[in-house]
Amino acid sequence: MKAVDFTGEAVRLIDQSALPHKEQWIELKTVEGVATAIKEMKVRGAPAIGVAAAYGMVFAQDPEKEADILKSARPTAVDLAHAVDFVLDMLRNGMNVIQAAAQWEKMNEEKCKKVSENGATLIKDGQKILTHCNTGFLAADAYGTALGAIITAHKQGKKIHVYVDETRPRLQGAITSWELLKENVPHHVICDSSAGFLMKKDEIDSVMVGADRIAANGDTANKIGTYSLSVLAKEQWIPFYVLAPLSSFDAGIQNGEHIKVEERDEREVLEINGMRIYPEGAHAKNFAFDITPARNITAFVNENGVFRGIEDVWKNTME
Ligand code: MRU
Repeated sequence: MKAVDFTGEAVRLIDQSALPHKEQWIELKTVEGVATAIKEMKVRGAPAIGVAAAYGMVFAQDPEKEADILKSARPTAVDLAHAVDFVLDMLRNGMNVIQAAAQWEKMNEEKCKKVSENGATLIKDGQKILTHCNTGFLAADAYGTALGAIITAHKQGKKIHVYVDETRPRLQGAITSWELLKENVPHHVICDSSAGFLMKKDEIDSVMVGADRIAANGDTANKIGTYSLSVLAKEQWIPFYVLAPLSSFDAGIQNGEHIKVEERDEREVLEINGMRIYPEGAHAKNFAFDITPARNITAFVNENGVFRGIEDVWKNTME
């Protein structure tokens, strides 16, 4: 399944803000339109916004100038910049923009398939896995990362059970559940605050999450709440895996302190479906991501394999 494609005239996206209740597709024909869809999270998830932005470049009159409109749509996920820069590089080398974007899309699909397969090797028959946010085909455009590994393990015939964090405030757990239902993967949704209790009850064998940006030292930006899960997992000696294609790794950023963490509108916390649930006058802090220190991560999984330390990830890229 795919979350983003190009019709020849428009970027076509499954509108993730309407899921899981309505499966509707939208078509965008301008750079600004694609950037707004990314900002408003109609398309979300690091690899998927990369693919959307790559195709968004098709509408640029002056690609070098307009690239920033797409790159700045969301600040944390590095795939966005990597995808746009890839298209710019290909244009400088004389490639046509549609071909360049299609090449990024294809490479992303291949990488996410491998990430899913490599991640599935970490899942044993009978295991219970906790996941956070949405990291399926919706987030990765194809296959997924953490959820891709979980679904692959299920398709391999392993009997698994998934605990799906609700993921306040945007409730990406709802679309993770929607993807798991489509694939008949047994799961329960839990409130984010339930994770520690379930871990203590021996209900979780591993935690699998995606990433928006992995710094050179392995510190990882991912959906808010990921850091807390890593601390709980460490306390309970539960393996904590980060699954992401190399396009989500950023060798140019030394450590997590230098990663820009997106802060979103407080209404995402104060309201549910447009209905205010907090008293007028109350304010909220709404960080979209947090940073998990590398020391809390048992292994990184990318398209090249499973790596027990970030040094091995970088060593492998040089081989
Ligand atoms: O704010 P979102 O929904 O775009 O955040 C997405 C995540 O944090 C995902 O875990 C991450 O992008 C990995 S997606 C394969």
